[in-house]
Order: sequence, then C-alpha cells, then structure tokens
Amino acid sequence: MRTQVVIIGAGPSGLLLSQLLHKSGVDCVVLERRDPDYVLSRIRAGVLEQGMVDMLERAGVSERMHKEGLPHDGFTIAVGDNRLRMDLKGLTGKNVMVYGQTEVTKDLMDAHDARDAEVIYDAENVTPLDFDGDNPRVTYEKDGVTHEIACDFICGCDGFHGVSRASVPDGAVTEYEKVYPFGWLGILSYVKPVDHELIYANHANGFALASMRSDILSRYYIQVPAGTDVNKWSDEAIWNELKIRLGAEAAAKMETGPSIEKSIAPLRSFVAEPLRFGRLFLAGDAGHIVPPTGAKGLNLAASDIHYLSEGLIEFYGEKSSAGVDAYSSRALARIWKAERFSWWMTTLLHQFPELGAFNAKIQQSEMDYLASSKAAQTVLAENYVGLPF
Ligand code: APR
Ligand code: PHB
Repeated sequence: MRTQVVIIGAGPSGLLLSQLLHKSGVDCVVLERRDPDYVLSRIRAGVLEQGMVDMLERAGVSERMHKEGLPHDGFTIAVGDNRLRMDLKGLTGKNVMVYGQTEVTKDLMDAHDARDAEVIYDAENVTPLDFDGDNPRVTYEKDGVTHEIACDFICGCDGFHGVSRASVPDGAVTEYEKVYPFGWLGILSYVKPVDHELIYANHANGFALASMRSDILSRYYIQVPAGTDVNKWSDEAIWNELKIRLGAEAAAKMETGPSIEKSIAPLRSFVAEPLRFGRLFLAGDAGHIVPPTGAKGLNLAASDIHYLSEGLIEFYGEKSSAGVDAYSSRALARIWKAERFSWWMTTLLHQFPELGAFNAKIQQSEMDYLASSKAAQTVLAENYVGLPF
C-alpha cells in the first residue's frame, strides 16, 4: 500500500492533522494502537484558545462545539479568601472556549467516520522506517498479519510514550525536562459548577482548580505529592479539601456528589528538539509536555498541527518544501513560550515547601504585583488566551 502521509496516533493531534490534510486533498492513513473507546475514555483538559477554535472551524468540526461549548471571558485566582478576577476579554479582547478534549476527539472521529477515512485502530507494533531517506515506510501488525505502507512523510502524533520519538537515533534528539514533585488528583462529577468561570487557587494546603465540562458536569483538581495512591483519597476527603483550598465563598456554594472518574496526573515540562528527523515529524505530546496549569497542552498540539499541515499542503500544492523545512523551528518558538507560561503559572499557584520561606515570599509578592498591575494581568491574559500562530 502507498499513501502520501502516514500519521501515527489517533489522538487530537493525529485526527486534526488528518482532517486538515483531507480538506486540501492530501492523502493520509492514520495508525492507532488502541481502539476508539479507549482513545475517548481519557479525560483531559478542556480549555480551547481562539486559534484552536478557528482551526476546528476550518477543519469542519466546530458545529457541536459552538452549540455545547461554553465561552469564558475570564477566570478567578483565589488565594485564601482573596479573589482576583482575570478579565481575559477586557484585557485582550479575546476569550476561551470550555469544551472537553474528549468532545473534540469525538467530533474529529465522527468526521472521519462520515467520510470513511482510513483510520486503522488496534494497529500493533507500528514501526517508522527509512525516514532518513526519500522513501520512508511504516510497518504494523493487525490481526496477526504484517502490513507495510510506503509514503512521503511520517507524522508522529503518538503522544509522550509513542514509538515515533523512540525511533529517532540516539544523539539526534535533545530532551529538556523538568519534573515537579507533585501531581493533580482530578475528579469528574455530575454536579453544578461552583462558579460560571474557572477558579485557580493557591492555598497553604496546595493548589486547587474548579473547572467544568457543562452546566451539570464539573471537573475539579487538587495538588497531591508525587507518588500518591489515588485509592487513599475518598470522594468525601477530596470535596473537603476542595472546600478548604478554594476559599469560603466557593465552599458555601459547592455542590458535591459521587465522582464518575478519579485519577492522578503527574506534572512535567518536556521538550524534544528538533521536531523533524528527515521525513519524520513529531507533533503534540510526542514532542512536548506542559504541566496543565496554563491549559496549554491541547492548544499547543493544535498549533503544531497548524504549522505541519500548512507545510505539507504547501509541499503538495506548490511543490515547495519551505513550510516543512521551517516546521520544527516555527513550532518550537511557540512551544517554548507556552512552556515558559505553564511553568510560571505552575510556580505561582502551587505549594513548594521544599523551596523554603524565601520562595514563599517571592510567590506572595508575585501575587501582590499581579493584583496591583494591569500590565502584569495583561501578560497573564495574553498568554492564557493564546499567543498568535
Ligand atoms: N502506535 C500507534 N499509536 C500509538 C502508539 C503507537 N506505538 N503509541 C501511542 N499511540 C496513540 C495513543 O494510543 C493515543 O491515542 O497515539 C495517541 C496519542 O494521543 P495523545 O496522547 O492524546 O497525544 P496528542 O494527540 O498529541 O494530544 C495532545 O493530549 O495529553 C494531552 O495535554 C495533551 O491535550 C494534549 C493532547
Ligand atoms: C480542565 O477542565 O480539565 C482544566 C482546565 C484548566 C486547566 C487544566 C485543566 O488549566
């Protein structure tokens, strides 16, 4: 079999790329290791920048998002019982869309089903080969049979633990990493959100976030030490902690109920450089990870796909390799800005007892400065709503 582009991974990066390439008449095949239900079972972030909303429109998958998504013009930062609202719309003229990653993925899957697109699920032992030359190929196994696809380009959209980055020869890639000594314990529960906007809180007990998926489905997180066993946290203990950390005003209004999902995600910053190895590209979580504090993970995947799809479409449409040649450096320039912002939000809003009293004082003065300076708030807001791409 032969196609123009093989995409490894059917998460949001891979499916969005495939959808945009299809719109421009570029042929591709998507190879996914798991089944669709597994891909949809992963609960992840839910804040879309305007740039990503525009991309979903261009990809023809924005109808349900505009119907069910919740545009948010701001959010609150709570420190103890002090609350500071970030007026995103007033400060930048832009807002964000609260719509779960699972829903984005589902809309992309439905669009693929509707056009009978080539997405091969349960593909085992996917292996990118010969990408250092002009004739790359990918092999995989399905139902015990080995298949091979010859192609022009391979796009590794297979997440942090995927095969694509792991296939690059040692020494060709440089990895930058920072691992935080804590994770986020998240719960999803059919209760009314505590506020119509998100609340990010820094309390002496640790960070907390009140988020939502709809008017009846809430998503909450609390900071827990790395290595915490999720089973040690009952729903009741989590609700109690949320009430303490989010402050009295939120506590008084908070509806509680059984969790329908409960899990712990570690916090990590990670970047691989470069993002191109001959005819293999890395995009999304395959190339970088941000801690979730700035809600940048999914949006960064989308900006990678913007640069990569443009480059590939230009390659076939205009017979120019300028766009694919520029992919890695264009994407990395934006990735590092989002890494910086996510690190900064994480540093501002979490407890770091191991860093001592000096660090705590600096954190407090950073909050005071933010509260008193429109310039500081504008810096936060323009990064939160998303830098241009
Ligand atoms: N072969 C084929 N598919 C694979 C392989 C493999 N060897 N390894 C992983 N995959 C698949 C996974 O099963 C998954 O469906 O690649 C997909 C990668 O999806 P994600 O991990 O969601 O990564 P990405 O599409 O880049 O999405 C980025 O996800 O983790 C969040 O914060 C992140 O929101 C961001 C988004
Ligand atoms: C979420 O709703 O899951 C969410 C929202 C904002 C974040 C991280 C996660 O910064």
